Amino acid sequence: MKAVIPAAGLGTRFLPITKSSPKEMLPIIDRPAIQYVVEEAINSGIEDIVIVTGRGKEAIERYFDMAYELERVLEERGEMEKLQEVRRISEMASIFFVRQKMPLGLGHAIYVAKNHMGEESFAVLLGDDIIVADKPCIKQLREIHKKYGCSVVAVQEVEKEDVRKYGIVEGEEVEKGVYRIERMIEKPSPEETASRNAIMGRYILTPAIFKCIERTEPGKKGEIQLTDALNLLLEKEDIYAYEFRGRRYDLGNKFDWLRINVEMAMQHDDFREKMRKFLQKILQD
Ligand code: UTP
Repeated sequence: MKAVIPAAGLGTRFLPITKSSPKEMLPIIDRPAIQYVVEEAINSGIEDIVIVTGRGKEAIERYFDMAYELERVLEERGEMEKLQEVRRISEMASIFFVRQKMPLGLGHAIYVAKNHMGEESFAVLLGDDIIVADKPCIKQLREIHKKYGCSVVAVQEVEKEDVRKYGIVEGEEVEKGVYRIERMIEKPSPEETASRNAIMGRYILTPAIFKCIERTEPGKKGEIQLTDALNLLLEKEDIYAYEFRGRRYDLGNKFDWLRINVEMAMQHDDFREKMRKFLQKILQD
C-alpha cells in the first residue's frame, strides 16, 4: 500500500512561526513532526510515500534528502552515531514529492497525488497530526480495511462542545469501535448531531475517491474539503469509521505542540527524570 502525506497547508493557526517555517517541521525534541508521521507509515508496512508540499515547504524536501556535505564533515570528525542517524533519515523509505500549487484544501491536496496512487486503495496521514499508539494508527486502519474491503476513517470521541471543530460521523456500530457510516457532517453545531465521533487525520481510501474529489464543489473558505468528497463516495460505497487506540496531537494547534513535547520528553530516557523534576518545581512555585 502507498501513502499520501498532505503537508501543503498554510498553518495559519500557528502563525507567526509558520510565516517562514512549515508546521510539519516543528521540532518534537530533536526531530520534525513529519518524521513521526513518515515513521508511522513505515511501521505500518508502507514504504512508498508521497508528500504533498507547496511554496515555502522546501525544508521538508531537504530534510529527507541526502546531506552530502554534512555527512562528510561528520565522517571526518568520526561522529559515527550522528552520521548514521542523518543517513537513516534519507534512506527511510521511497519518498516522492508533489506540489500543490495553491492550498485549495485537503481534498485537492490528495488529488494532486492521484497519478502516483494508481488503482489501489491508499493511506492518507495528515502531516501535522501525530498519533502516539502502541500499534501504529494506520496499521489499525489497514486491519479494518482488510476485513471490510472499503474506505476507513479514523475517529475518536470528543467533548460535545468540540464537535464544531471536526468532521463528525454518524453510523451504526457493527462491532466494538467499528461503525458503518450513514452521514458525515463537517463542523456541525452540537445541536445538529448526537454523535461525538470526530474524524482524525488518518484514512484508508479506495481510488474511487478521486472521481468524487473531481465532483466536489469548493466549500468553506473556497477549499475542496475531503469530507464533502467522502459524502459523495458514501453514495456509492460503504465507508467505515474506526475508533483507533492512541493519543492524537494536532500540531496545527499551539497547545497540542506543547503537550506532545512534554509527553515525548517523559518517554525519552535522557529527559524523563529531568522533566519530572522540572515540572514538579514549576508547579510548586
Ligand atoms: P489543516 O486545515 O490543519 O491545515 O489541514 P492548514 O490549512 O495548514 O491549517 P490552518 O487552519 O491554516 O492553521 C490538515 C492537513 O492538510 C494539509 C495541511 O498541511 C495539513 O497537514 N493541507 C491543507 C494541504 O496539504 N493543502 C491544503 O490546501 C490544505
